[in-house]
Amino acid sequence: MFSVRMRVALGVITALLIALVSSTYALADGPWPNDPQGPQAKSIADLYWIMFVAAVIVLAIVDGGIIYAGIKFRERPGHVARQFHGQNFLELTWTVIPTLMVVSFSVLSWQKLDFINNTRSSDVGMVIQAEGSQWQWTFSYPHEDRYKLIDGNYLRASEELHIPVGMKVRIELSSKDVIHSFWVPSIGGKKDAVPGRATELWIQADKAGTFKGQCFEFCGDGHADMLITLVAHTPSDFAAWIPQAVKEANIPLDPKTVVGRELFLSLACAGCHTIKGTTAGGKIGPELTHLMSKKPSNIAGGALAPVNEENLKKWISNPPAVKPGTLMPNLGLSQQQIDDIVLFLQTLK
Ligand code: CUA
Repeated sequence: MFSVRMRVALGVITALLIALVSSTYALADGPWPNDPQGPQAKSIADLYWIMFVAAVIVLAIVDGGIIYAGIKFRERPGHVARQFHGQNFLELTWTVIPTLMVVSFSVLSWQKLDFINNTRSSDVGMVIQAEGSQWQWTFSYPHEDRYKLIDGNYLRASEELHIPVGMKVRIELSSKDVIHSFWVPSIGGKKDAVPGRATELWIQADKAGTFKGQCFEFCGDGHADMLITLVAHTPSDFAAWIPQAVKEANIPLDPKTVVGRELFLSLACAGCHTIKGTTAGGKIGPELTHLMSKKPSNIAGGALAPVNEENLKKWISNPPAVKPGTLMPNLGLSQQQIDDIVLFLQTLK
């Protein structure tokens, strides 16, 4: 029924439609710059929509003109295509209008860039350092007493970034290894973290909520997992969050758990297990960063369920006895060492 050419064309159009629909679905749940939740993201989205609408109008006029001319003036029996040259009015029109459009987009962009890049204005209410490393962001809160930990350092946290609603926050970026890029699309623009260079941007959330972000510069194996979870709190919730976060950050610093932590990092444990934020980066055993909040079925195939002090001690004293065939050997630790390590493991929430 259809010619070969027609069938190929239909196939290509169908494939493009499938690609369009599936990518739209994939984006539906992800970070989305056109759902702005802060002044900076809004100014970027406004510019985007102005340009998008202009582009659609240009597309309609140009393609409409081409299709109209192609049908109306085509060569057919009894009709010879008309030839003409030198249409001054038309040529001027399609030179002047695009020039005016490009110039006005440039002016608009510069204006927005002034606003977007203004990280040093007097209304900045808070400064947070964000360090990118393979493969996580580490956020350091201001050196104020309320963020102080028991070891004298100040609150630092990975992956989750907490800010109060309605406050302009300057993010000072740095990188430990390669180039990363900080981007929380619905809150603000994107900025690279470059090794050896200081860069910064500002963000502001207008309403409370959790906003997803993603490292936006390919930085190696774990790039896709280098996420940012930005939590915007109402001012009173933020005030309540600070002591809670400081309390949790203090747990692993507690002298009682420090012994177990040191043991874990110096013994064979660290060679097989990863605990983010420490030097333990082994890949053979399961990651233990959030051990205590993992589903019991995800640890030792459920052999430790429920994951608690008693079961952890039983496990570490002789893993193959609990789960025959496990890769984790009996390390022959003393009861004291086991107790200390388990105390430390219980801080991994
Ligand atoms: Cu860090 Cu991509």
